[in-house]
Amino acid sequence: MSNRPIKQSIKPTYVVEGADVLLQRSFGPKRENLFDPFLLFDHFAFNDPIEGPIVGFPQHPHRGIETVTYMLEGNVRHRDSLGNTGLLGPGDIQWMTSGRGILHEELPKRGPSGRVDGFQLWVNLPAKDKMSEPRYQEITKDEVPLIEQDGVAVGLVAGEYAGQRGPVTEIAIQPLYLDVTLSPGAPFELPVPPEHAAFAYVFEGAGQLGGEDVDAVRFVEFGAGDRIQAATDEHMRFILFAGQPIREPIVPYGPFVMNTTQEIQQVFEDIKNGTFAQPF
Ligand code: FE2
Repeated sequence: MSNRPIKQSIKPTYVVEGADVLLQRSFGPKRENLFDPFLLFDHFAFNDPIEGPIVGFPQHPHRGIETVTYMLEGNVRHRDSLGNTGLLGPGDIQWMTSGRGILHEELPKRGPSGRVDGFQLWVNLPAKDKMSEPRYQEITKDEVPLIEQDGVAVGLVAGEYAGQRGPVTEIAIQPLYLDVTLSPGAPFELPVPPEHAAFAYVFEGAGQLGGEDVDAVRFVEFGAGDRIQAATDEHMRFILFAGQPIREPIVPYGPFVMNTTQEIQQVFEDIKNGTFAQPF
């Protein structure tokens, strides 16, 4: 077995999305598709509560992708054109497969400390699934296994860890999505298929990933190998995600990611003639 080294490390940059939501973005959708099968990773966090209207993501469409929302603090009230509605709280996960089209709204609300803290990951869909029926998996915190051993605590959202399977299922890229917390001296080691692309987002503390020093806040891409290794002398918490690359050309346009320009034009045709999704 060989350890995956760090291939590149990125300091997230601030961007504003939706209606005045300040985000730390590690990467966004680009034709170059450098993070295949992933398209975007955002961390939304508000350290200084501000008075005023609630900011968020009012009703907007998606096609051709999956959006994965994982909350740490505060919550997100959501509604969509499939008739789903709910409140996503700390530790809850929403894995939304837009397929051919969905309209949804995502409105964050601050937690008791005044903070909203969470992540959104965009996952690409293979061409054969881009026009599939929209699908939606909502998983509450108590359905996410928390596996604690030898100073390592892992929230298992998707994939396999310590002989258990995460609750998110039937996703094309066979994802791994873990929330990992390490105590001092705790060894973390996990085999990841060598053909899968693997990434980590360190958002608390500091330590070593792939044998290199890393501290929060930092997005890391792992290079070739078949095992992820992490350790810390103090405390470190990170999201670890991996998946099977799709290796198809992509054309991203805002909240849509298709394979050709014609397919992007088709999105606007479908919206115009009312066959995209029903507004709510
Ligand atoms: Fe969205």
